Amino acid sequence: MRMYDIIAKKRDGGTLNHEELSFAVNGYVAGDVPDYQMSALLMAIYLRGMTDEETAVLTDVMARSGDMVDLSAIDGVCVDKHSTGGVGDTTTRVLVPLAAACGAKVAKISGRGLGHTGGTLDKLESIPGCSVEETEARFVRQVQEIGCAVIGQTHDLCPADKALYALRDVTGTVNCIPLIASSIVSKKLASGAGAIVLDVKTGSGALMHTVEDSIALAKAMVDIGAQAGKPILALVTGMEQPLGTHVGNALEVKEAVDILAGRAGGRLYRLRQRAELLLSQRRHLPLLGGGPAVQRGDREHRAAHDRGGTEGARAAWLRHVCGGTLQPKKYRESLPLSRLYAGR
Ligand code: URA
Ligand code: CA
Repeated sequence: MRMYDIIAKKRDGGTLNHEELSFAVNGYVAGDVPDYQMSALLMAIYLRGMTDEETAVLTDVMARSGDMVDLSAIDGVCVDKHSTGGVGDTTTRVLVPLAAACGAKVAKISGRGLGHTGGTLDKLESIPGCSVEETEARFVRQVQEIGCAVIGQTHDLCPADKALYALRDVTGTVNCIPLIASSIVSKKLASGAGAIVLDVKTGSGALMHTVEDSIALAKAMVDIGAQAGKPILALVTGMEQPLGTHVGNALEVKEAVDILAGRAGGRLYRLRQRAELLLSQRRHLPLLGGGPAVQRGDREHRAAHDRGGTEGARAAWLRHVCGGTLQPKKYRESLPLSRLYAGR
């Protein structure tokens, strides 16, 4: 097999099979396929597109290019949640402990920021003493004990995505639905979750600027899930402005704790937006995870979750963020202040 023929086949609008995609991707990771050939293939994919099946095969090849995390020690189905990224996007820090309090097991492997968006890890690390570099055993134990954990990528997860993303970044091939979908879903498949909820951001602050493109990306990812036998659910949500009232790593953590503690106020519009998002995802995460489902309109169920949920979520979160060392009443003082503010 020759890389030249694979490039020419895609250039002419052909559909690449497993053998060809595996040859190209694994060859590139191993250093046998040079940048100039992989760049040409990426551009051919960008211009010609990929069929749904081809995208699923590419995703599978990428997911298997490195380690696959084994979460089978955790009872029940582990759910994961992923946002395509935005500014002032506090969703993970509010949603993960809420879902845990509703009975879901959330094992989340998070990344650093991409482009202009800060990653969950960067935000969590603004808390003094918070470690996102846990061993797999501690990660699994934490999910078992409190229902949720977030760690950074400690494994050699998806080296193909790392290499391809860097190349896409400098060859004008980032904004391509099959390439974005395979990039996101390959990492989720490698990180071991049994079911995945995707929060596909749309608007000027997001990767996808139009609702049509966002829906197409969401559909592509749900389709990969169907072909891989993993339930994937996607929600398209607005990212025309920051979701919360705070922007900045430490401030977004503070806001998430305030929301969980029921202390957040003001900015009705944004709060409503966030509440709607949380409700719909909160309904979906437990559904995927086989935990108690919270149906819209099921008032009794919801009230029970709200009573037990807020307290449980807050406790889980506070224990989660720094292994139980965070003092609920003192967390504000323990967060870093900007020099300007601190000097006043
Ligand atoms: N996020 C990813 O992980 N990959 C992309 O290609 C775009 C956004
Ligand atoms: Ca299991």
